[in-house]
Amino acid sequence: MQCAYDITRSYEENFERGPFFARTDFSAPNTPPKQFLGLSVRSRMGIAAGLLLNSRWLLAYAARGFDLLTYKTVRSRARPSHPQPNWVFVEDDGKTDGPVFVTEQTSSLPDAARRISSAICFGMPSMAPEWWREDVARAKAGLGAGQLLIVSVVASPEPGWTTAQLAADYAQCAAWAAAAGADVIEANLSCPNLCPADGPVYWDTALSREVAQRIRDGIGSVPLLLKVGQFEEENMQRNFLRAVADRAQGITVANNVSRPVLHRDGRPVFGSQHEKAGVVGRLIHEPAVASVRVARRILTEEGLGLSIAAVGGVASTEDAADFFEAGADAVMMGGAPMYLPDLAAEIKTAHPEW
Ligand SMILES: Cc1cc2nc3c(=O)[nH]c(=O)nc-3n(C[C@H](O)[C@H](O)[C@H](O)COP(=O)(O)O)c2cc1C
Repeated sequence: MQCAYDITRSYEENFERGPFFARTDFSAPNTPPKQFLGLSVRSRMGIAAGLLLNSRWLLAYAARGFDLLTYKTVRSRARPSHPQPNWVFVEDDGKTDGPVFVTEQTSSLPDAARRISSAICFGMPSMAPEWWREDVARAKAGLGAGQLLIVSVVASPEPGWTTAQLAADYAQCAAWAAAAGADVIEANLSCPNLCPADGPVYWDTALSREVAQRIRDGIGSVPLLLKVGQFEEENMQRNFLRAVADRAQGITVANNVSRPVLHRDGRPVFGSQHEKAGVVGRLIHEPAVASVRVARRILTEEGLGLSIAAVGGVASTEDAADFFEAGADAVMMGGAPMYLPDLAAEIKTAHPEW
């Protein structure tokens, strides 16, 4: 079985030449229309920010039946990827924190595709805005009816920036993406490495509100999703949701989980500067389902109208069902479509009503 993203090659090579599909004989089932964020969609199945590196990747997966397509996070300036390795398979230790160990067969796929966990360390590379703005427009032009183009944006803060500068940088990217044709903007508030001072943006309720407001000012009526990671306590999440509810239309829950990613001899897989990296896949599914359940309960208790796009370890119809039962409005897949490119078609065949 071949992987669409070849982890033995550089990010740039995958960007230029991928996706690498083993089979090109596929069919995507026709499904009746439904709504997500007030927009008509063929299904509420999609790909989260990451795997769709450019319009070629995005349209290739759209053709395979994914209907909510997130264009990989873009910035207001070009940023290269970290050097290889960027993506490795890890052992499933059944834990949710502490170190996780790389499987030493990184060039071949672990057998049980549905149970794969992996770790990523890319540094959120981005092409320059002049390039991605044109490419977002190409992606939009190639999508069919009922398929949504979501563009993920993030700020690129420099030392000493004020919160207003940070919010303005998010808003600039969002406005460019909306002008290029994005149906939905997703602001990535959850990256642990790149936000100012102490922790990700979504841990700071006032900052999250400021960012959401500035983006809203720049994108008019285009729906806005805010992507978050795990909250340390429920009250923090409640305050966050209250603070952003009148500015955003939904939240994307949750981003990868940051853990030390090591070789068995203790060496960090991604180098000493990046001992901790983002763990995705099977290992994060249960915590992500729990996060969605809590978010749905708080939204109901508070009477807030935010939608939930759920992400974390979906590699089967049953995994998607977990999220819908927990209260998700849409289900996104991060890593699994890399080795299971027909996942949306499979799930839509089983559940055309999703
Ligand atoms: C190759 C890869 C690249 C990613 N890059 C981004 C990114 O640029 N921005 C972002 O918000 N999330 C990024 N993610 C995180 C995913 O959007 C998603 O939250 C995470 O993979 C968990 O979902 P999963 O368990 O289904 O993989 C990336 C994930 C993968 C696998």
